[in-house]
Amino acid sequence: MNIVVLGETVTGENRVALVPSSVPKLLKLGYQVTVVSGAGSKAHYQDEEYENVGATISPDLQSALTPACIILKVQPPTDLEIALFPKNSILISLLSPLSRPDLIKALADASLTALSLELIPRITRAQSMDILSSQATVAGYKAVLVGANELGKFLPMFMTAAGTIRPGKVLILGAGVAGLQAIATAKRLGAKVEAFDVRPAVKEQIESLGATFLEMEEEVSGEGEGGYAKELSEDQHLKELELIAAHISDSDLVITTAQIPGKSAPELITEPMVKSMKPGSVIIDLAAATGGNCRLTKEGETVLLQGVKIIGPANLPSEIPVHASQMFSKNVETLLKELIKEGELLLDFSDEVVAGTCVAHAGKIQHQLTRETLGLK
Ligand code: NAI
Repeated sequence: MNIVVLGETVTGENRVALVPSSVPKLLKLGYQVTVVSGAGSKAHYQDEEYENVGATISPDLQSALTPACIILKVQPPTDLEIALFPKNSILISLLSPLSRPDLIKALADASLTALSLELIPRITRAQSMDILSSQATVAGYKAVLVGANELGKFLPMFMTAAGTIRPGKVLILGAGVAGLQAIATAKRLGAKVEAFDVRPAVKEQIESLGATFLEMEEEVSGEGEGGYAKELSEDQHLKELELIAAHISDSDLVITTAQIPGKSAPELITEPMVKSMKPGSVIIDLAAATGGNCRLTKEGETVLLQGVKIIGPANLPSEIPVHASQMFSKNVETLLKELIKEGELLLDFSDEVVAGTCVAHAGKIQHQLTRETLGLK
């Protein structure tokens, strides 16, 4: 009965799936915890801290793995790692099933059970397991700090003997978990914040944070299922672009977070809009991984157009690895507490957390959308 914590091999990934404070909670469930040496070091969690709370440190992956163990990771495993995982082990990590269906097939073919953390249902009971929310909180916060750092301006207002500086203007597009955290952070830094979302329900949340909600002349409801947004009609989308165009030219920092589940990110910033902005302005596009909200965004790169910087971060949570890992770990710990009963991890497929999250089991791909992507029945 072994829970194994792996190190991350993907470039730029500093997080670790389990931090030392979660170890005693898992030991209480009747499991032993083995950590591959150095797994937490990039997030500043050292081997000794894990050992001090009862974990065993293994020098490498091979010696850490035991038959039918539970394997914890942040990023999806590599082919090399999959080849080493013992059959019937349970892998819990981010797996991007829709963008990497072949990976899910490889996991099923290797007789592994795989739980994809992106798929934790957005239900009240699963809130404390919700990795999308915890990591979006980190990304929203860090996006403002990155933007503030790139600006050649202050965000707060200053009244000094050397003159008065007016507060910076920040525009947030998409006010879900990341957007709301970006609003809160920009407000804490003293900026004047405007925000827009297609779900009218967020107006109150935006205003309660002290920002101005931008309203379209005609009320548009982009409210989809489960609190998510749906795609707008072409006409509504054009009206949205008009609204954004009217506000973006005056903004110093723009943070975009708009996503539609299972689809490419909606385009909210066109090239002419970027050209209308003042040189020195900054756009941070948190939707870079799904195509970007700005026409010019390139994931993992900074694009410069007429003095405007468009930054498409690939992995912002990894830049705050201590707390991003702490939150990730808490989410994983809660999930394991739900699944492990009387010292054994049981998969009850009538439970919507298990049914929603399990993508591979007993040699089969369980996730319906992944099966469809691969052309399977
Ligand atoms: P997300 O990452 O899918 O999208 C981010 C934001 O972009 C959303 O607020 C969405 O309305 C907005 N958006 C989409 N298209 C847009 C467009 N064309 N223009 C402007 N904005 C656009 O969403 P996220 O942040 O993961 O969650 C969204 C909502 O899901 C939450 O506000 C909440 O209602 C619900 N939720 C529920 C949870 C639970 O009950 N456990 C946990 C987390 C979220």
